[in-house]
Amino acid sequence: MSFKGSASDAKADAVRGLRVGVVGAGVMGSNHARVLAGLPGVTLVGIVDPLPEHRARATAMVGCRAFAELEELFDEGVDAITIAAPTHLHHEVALACITRNIHILVEKPVASTVEEGQDIVNAARSAGVTLMVGHVERFNPAVAAIKQAIAGEDILSIGITRVGPFPPRMSNVGVVIDLAVHDIDLIRWFTESDIVEVQPQLSSAVAEREDIALLQFRTASGVLAHINTNWLTPFKARNVTVATRGKYVMGDLLTRQVTECFGFKPDGSYSMRHLPVGHDEPLRAELIAFLHAVRTGNVPAVSGDEGVASLEIAIRCLEQPAKPAASAARKGPRRIAG
Ligand SMILES: NC(=O)c1ccc[n+]([C@@H]2O[C@H](COP(=O)([O-])OP(=O)(O)OC[C@H]3O[C@@H](n4cnc5c(N)ncnc54)[C@H](O)[C@@H]3O)[C@@H](O)[C@H]2O)c1
Repeated sequence: MSFKGSASDAKADAVRGLRVGVVGAGVMGSNHARVLAGLPGVTLVGIVDPLPEHRARATAMVGCRAFAELEELFDEGVDAITIAAPTHLHHEVALACITRNIHILVEKPVASTVEEGQDIVNAARSAGVTLMVGHVERFNPAVAAIKQAIAGEDILSIGITRVGPFPPRMSNVGVVIDLAVHDIDLIRWFTESDIVEVQPQLSSAVAEREDIALLQFRTASGVLAHINTNWLTPFKARNVTVATRGKYVMGDLLTRQVTECFGFKPDGSYSMRHLPVGHDEPLRAELIAFLHAVRTGNVPAVSGDEGVASLEIAIRCLEQPAKPAASAARKGPRRIAG
């Protein structure tokens, strides 16, 4: 699979200008606006946020216009919008955009429930608008290098560690929805297979919601995978290992060093090499890929269906299948906040 987000794509796409807006002027939305403001062929129309201080911060940082209401952005005329409002608003904002035939990139997780996510996917499909989900880690050059290294290999197992301290702004979701959903998407993407078995171990050591998770999976293709994630490690670490029949690939997603061991011999010896890794900013590559899909009408790099599939697995991890009485007692679809 190749990214549709290279620098040459950006140059080619610059021929046709696009009017783009951002919803949510928080941490992610401000970054979306910063990147969009610097892309060729894009007019950043403005950013929407109900909080005056967040609008002022975005205007100061990016120099763009800011609106209190979504309708004001619509009135300006936009081709595409990136949605970086809190997750529980994704459904409402996405449907409002789709109704106006505006193409959307929705931050991860795509929605609060699988039902809402599916609703967004169905609406976008019926309207014929582009829907991409912001699983930005796929655009990390180290992840791309790992994906390339394992292409055509018989993958046996994947291990991902994503740990760090508590985030400065705690939303009301735990580590599974906030962090592990990135890696669920990576496992599905690396293996090009669905996750069919989930064995979660969760604990709330400090926070109200789970702040430690050890998640084990099996894919339909038979790959075993695990995610170790928490908010209790004093430093950030993001590491991926992939064992295939012919290789062992190790990637550090922060330092972007990717190494592979190969040529295993009966005497226990093997060869090792560092792999070339690009230096693109992942968010920039993601937004270029989104705008390229808008311009060409091609399937976006991360489809709505993929976003819903990863959310569904993350929510399954929270449902504690080992306690059937508790899950039977729950009413309605499991909803995440934030
Ligand atoms: N891809 C990633 O790596 C990544 C990282 C962090 C967050 N996210 C996702 O991005 C989204 C936003 O997260 P964040 O960390 O930027 O949160 P945040 O709290 O920093 O920002 C959310 C912003 O949305 C604003 N908002 C509230 N109601 C609104 C409305 N009706 N219309 C427009 N804006 C509204 C808030 O005032 C706030 O400024 C979430 O879905 C989150 O899961 C993705």
